[in-house]
Amino acid sequence: MCLQLHARGERVIAACLDDSQELRDRGIHVEPHVDVTQDDAVHRLAIRLIDEGIKLDWLISNAGVLGVDELGQIDFQEVRRQFEINAIGPLRVIQALVKTLQPGSKIGIVTSRVGSLGDNSSGSMYAYRMSKAAANMAGLNLHHDLMGRGIAVLMLHPGLVATDLTKDFPRDMPWIQPDQAAKGLIRNMDQLTMETSGKFRHSNGEYLPW
Ligand SMILES: NC(=O)c1ccc[n+]([C@@H]2O[C@H](COP(=O)([O-])OP(=O)(O)OC[C@H]3O[C@@H](n4cnc5c(N)ncnc54)[C@H](OP(=O)(O)O)[C@@H]3O)[C@@H](O)[C@H]2O)c1
Repeated sequence: MCLQLHARGERVIAACLDDSQELRDRGIHVEPHVDVTQDDAVHRLAIRLIDEGIKLDWLISNAGVLGVDELGQIDFQEVRRQFEINAIGPLRVIQALVKTLQPGSKIGIVTSRVGSLGDNSSGSMYAYRMSKAAANMAGLNLHHDLMGRGIAVLMLHPGLVATDLTKDFPRDMPWIQPDQAAKGLIRNMDQLTMETSGKFRHSNGEYLPW
């Protein structure tokens, strides 16, 4: 998403857990060492942006982790880790950065269809499903709390994307590539208005059940 938005002329700020020479080499402003589980790191980012007088048109929360589990083998430390990153992380970042938003700004939270209650027909993946369902709830709440300020919120499912996150999954699945997912997510954000705020949308354009 950073590369495609930069290519169309947007000013992109990429907050990364570590750093990204790849994005720096393309001329993208990178904010390194922003761990979404750490109050200090997130607040330092917020202060830097606020001090520079930056107002964000879009705030995209993308950080996420996946750990596979099944009943009988659930590691509750791992459940907590996925909650910290997938559910509390977006809320921590958005709360800290809300001062950088203004009427007309848009928030996108990359959650997952796997977190949909209505779409769950297979079980397992307790930590990931629960943390992404919680992220969807946080996003819907943000929609209600921010609509009075003219800020729209959309929960985003990228599709089944071949990335580091899914590298251990079977290869015979209907994968899409990151550039295709990013294109669809950007189109969803472009189309987001106050009227369509507070929904859950697949990168293919389909609206998903909670
Ligand atoms: N791939 C799929 O099929 C799929 C499907 C549905 C939803 N999603 C969601 O899409 C989003 C992007 O995932 P992806 O597939 O692109 O996987 P990915 O390549 O593993 O990207 C996840 C990113 O999150 C970052 N991250 C992890 N922990 C973090 C933390 N504590 N603070 C800040 N950043 C952190 C990672 O940084 P490092 O690289 O430095 O570790 C990585 O850049 C995730 O929210 C994921 O749940 C993916």
